[in-house]
Amino acid sequence: MKVIFLGPPGAGKGTQAKRAVSALGLVQLSTGDMLRAAKASDTELGLEAASYMDSGRLVPDEVVIGLIAERLGESSLGNGFIFDGFPRTIPQAESLDVLMANANDSIACVINIKVPDEEIVRRLSQRRSCPSCGEIYHLEFFPPKNDDFCDQCGHKGLFHRADDTKDAIEKRLEVYHQQTSPLIDYYSGQEKIVDIDGTGSADAVHNSILGFLNKLGQEKIDLDKKKVG
Ligand code: AP5
Repeated sequence: MKVIFLGPPGAGKGTQAKRAVSALGLVQLSTGDMLRAAKASDTELGLEAASYMDSGRLVPDEVVIGLIAERLGESSLGNGFIFDGFPRTIPQAESLDVLMANANDSIACVINIKVPDEEIVRRLSQRRSCPSCGEIYHLEFFPPKNDDFCDQCGHKGLFHRADDTKDAIEKRLEVYHQQTSPLIDYYSGQEKIVDIDGTGSADAVHNSILGFLNKLGQEKIDLDKKKVG
């Protein structure tokens, strides 16, 4: 199954993608994580991406599409994947359609996680992340059990992302409304949008998403059986 998680910055795409991949045996493909890894290792790509990311702007389409095309060409995608943070513009979505069509494949659905802007600011200003395993925390809602140590891998030193400042959050929200939210209409036109209320607890949001994806998976199995029969 190939799925896209869409939503504003801080809607919970990363939190929910991690939970869904572990429940469904899928792979998480996060362009934000790929770009942060490039940035941390000081590659040419990372240095180019850093100035866009830290100020809350989007990295140019051709850079991100190149990263995804390369990743989709690898063989380790198992049962399928969840795109977290890709596509983010109409040209990225159009390029993805071409990549999928060339592989004789398609996106099953687009999970649109809806959270209002005021809540986004509250979530991002108190987020902390583990630089080692990528686990995501929130100082009020999901604090690490042991101070500055990651619950999952024990790494010491959780970090506050460089783009979680007030100015960068405002810019990211503006960019989302201008460049990314048009994807809702784009994928509605393909009848792939599934709206999910992202304002409940992380468990409640997870249950809604999983309920939908399990139903979709079962429908596909039934359809495949009919074709064989
Ligand atoms: P990226 O890393 O993708 O950032 P983003 O889309 O802004 O999303 P976030 O990671 O900030 O939030 P999220 O929705 O994953 O929420 P999370 O689960 O962490 O991209 C970063 C930058 O890279 C971009 O700005 C751009 O420059 C570049 N980039 C990436 N992809 C690109 C692309 N395709 N094209 C061009 N440029 C690209 O949760 C947030 C917080 O809320 C956490 O603290 C979490 O604990 C908490 N939380 C989560 N769920 C809940 C809940 N239900 N209740 C309460 N708190 C919750």
